[in-house]
Amino acid sequence: MNNLQPPHHGGRLQAAARQFKIPVNDWLDLSTGINPFSWQPPPIPQSVWQCLPDTYDGLEQAAHRFYGAPMMAIPGSQWAIQTLPAVIPSNRVWLPREAYEEHRFWWQYHQHDVRTYAALDAIEPAFRDVVVVVNPNNPTAEFESSATLLQMAHRLQAQDGHMIIDEAFMDCTPEQSVFHGNKTLPENLIVLRSLGKFFGLAGLRLGFLFGADSLQSQLKQKLGPWAVSHPAAYVGELALLDSHWQQQTRRTLQQASTELQGLLARHVPPTQIQATNLFCTLDLRSEMAVSLHRHCARQGILLRHFEHWHRIRVGLTTKTGRQRLEMALQCWNF
Ligand SMILES: Cc1ncc(COP(=O)(O)O)c(C=O)c1O
Repeated sequence: MNNLQPPHHGGRLQAAARQFKIPVNDWLDLSTGINPFSWQPPPIPQSVWQCLPDTYDGLEQAAHRFYGAPMMAIPGSQWAIQTLPAVIPSNRVWLPREAYEEHRFWWQYHQHDVRTYAALDAIEPAFRDVVVVVNPNNPTAEFESSATLLQMAHRLQAQDGHMIIDEAFMDCTPEQSVFHGNKTLPENLIVLRSLGKFFGLAGLRLGFLFGADSLQSQLKQKLGPWAVSHPAAYVGELALLDSHWQQQTRRTLQQASTELQGLLARHVPPTQIQATNLFCTLDLRSEMAVSLHRHCARQGILLRHFEHWHRIRVGLTTKTGRQRLEMALQCWNF
């Protein structure tokens, strides 16, 4: 079981530079879904570097306000993806057929019985089943309604099971979050959020988890003291409190996504484009996906190719980035 291969990710510029013989600094990297207009941290006071974090109260209060639910700080939502399979008992674990592959990897690593689903309503929960949803999904860009998700969470609760919703890409559309509208949320619900995508602070390694107190205690034991660094807590708190930037950035990203969709629709049938406000995903035939990925890479533009699913994910970019992509696509013959 432990000869499982860890999943590949976007952002592997060094490998692309070697393969296509283009220096790293000459690439336009559109292979991730990280906001290109990221939040800019101020200088960090010396005392923040010098002292260990005492408590995370300020950070977690800011997170509660931003997300609309009480949250536990973690060193990136990836930490929870790796750790939950070690603490949650399961009969079967249901994962989307296509999604962020780390979920599948870690449940398999911990030897759970992993199943895949094409649609949530096809699942008939049994005793101690776990259902994982990535909402919006990366890379398919599909959204599930919170009513559907909560209904499934309640059905799982009746079977002593858990529901995990990975909302890493939800910050552009908080009205679609399961937290929206101050609902009473079931005890078996776990929600993951990330400062890496919308805030564009992937290197900060900061995320949040919503879950029952008993689960949080188990996770805190695994986390130990100071797992979230003091600079991460300091920067994260300021970013979460900056509602002016958040509102403005949601508008900027919506505009950039609309423009990217328009650009892509000049080269690919619009019905094959799905979008969130952080990335667009093209659902292509296999040879077309290979051709597009290779063509752009030869022009120094890195897209994310999901080989098994024949999808290409294109991250949002600035006006200059779009112009460069447009020029590359104009000479793509397929
Ligand atoms: C859907 C999804 N969830 C979670 C993560 C992990 O993000 P982080 O650990 O930076 O919060 C990623 C990273 O790409 C992702 O795509």
